[in-house]
Amino acid sequence: MFQKLFSRNTANRQAQNAPASHLIDLHDVVKSYETAAGDFLALKNVSLQVDGGEFVAVIGKSGSGKSTLSNMITGIDRPSSGSVVVNGTSVHKMSEGQIARWRGLSVGVVFQFFQLLPTLTVLENVMLPMDFCNVYAGRERRERAIHLLEQVDMVEQMDKLPTAISGGQQQRVAIARSLATDPPILVADEPTGNLDSRTADSVFSLFEKLVDGGKTILMVTHDDDLAERVTRTVTIADGRIVDDVRTQRTPSPVVQLARTAEPVVIRPVPVLQPNGAGAYAFQGAQQIVGVSSD
Ligand SMILES: Nc1ncnc2c1ncn2[C@@H]1O[C@H](COP(=O)(O)OP(=O)(O)OP(=O)(O)O)[C@@H](O)[C@H]1O
Ligand SMILES: [Mg+2]
Repeated sequence: MFQKLFSRNTANRQAQNAPASHLIDLHDVVKSYETAAGDFLALKNVSLQVDGGEFVAVIGKSGSGKSTLSNMITGIDRPSSGSVVVNGTSVHKMSEGQIARWRGLSVGVVFQFFQLLPTLTVLENVMLPMDFCNVYAGRERRERAIHLLEQVDMVEQMDKLPTAISGGQQQRVAIARSLATDPPILVADEPTGNLDSRTADSVFSLFEKLVDGGKTILMVTHDDDLAERVTRTVTIADGRIVDDVRTQRTPSPVVQLARTAEPVVIRPVPVLQPNGAGAYAFQGAQQIVGVSSD
């Protein structure tokens, strides 16, 4: 269900874009800010390519340029030079108005401080991007928003104002809102930075689920534990990418089995453990998928 809801348009768009280009393609991006002390280079010739289905963590010290980089991808800010092509669109060439509409359809943005509109209910906040981008028919928008709120476990709070729910709940609503138009990409700047570790973990699990459903996520984070659970970690220092490590996040055996086209019979196989105790290993078609001690 979750997969179905989130992956339909993503798959179509990815198929349209593939194999010509990367989903996110930054080439030689320089961002310079004018300051009283002269020009300050926040990004220095940054090139970065991200493909569909990747889950990228961007890490680095405070002031290293992480938010500046994520703002380039979302079009919130523009490069001083270089190119930013996202989902087949040259973001750096568009006008502000074009960017706003393009962003609404192409990139879901999640912020550290949620940024829900305080005078709108939870449900209205999630419906807003669909209204703004004029996607989905009128009645469908409400139904879709309710579906999204179900996925983030917030449907019971849908008539409340954002001030009446907790920080973690607000972030879950913000994630539902970011998915409203079914964008292929999610960019999140420290989405767990304002949450306690348990809530942060549940938000992160939601992201993992979205990646499993076909979304591409770029997440700025200070949380080393979370950064270890992604498929790729990009480190920024002083406006440059200084490290780019791909990790093979192994899906859980359950997810792997769910991805197997043919039904797999899992059968218990008696085994002897190193300590001499008996046990059953649960064997799927290709591998051991679990062990029980009796
Ligand atoms: N509008 C601006 N004018 C001048 N300098 C800026 C501006 N925005 C950012 N900077 C500078 O650019 C550098 C990178 O900022 P950025 O916000 O990208 O850092 P960051 O890695 O996201 O830091 P943090 O982890 O604290 O959020 C910093 O030195 C910052 O002071
Ligand atoms: Mg930042």
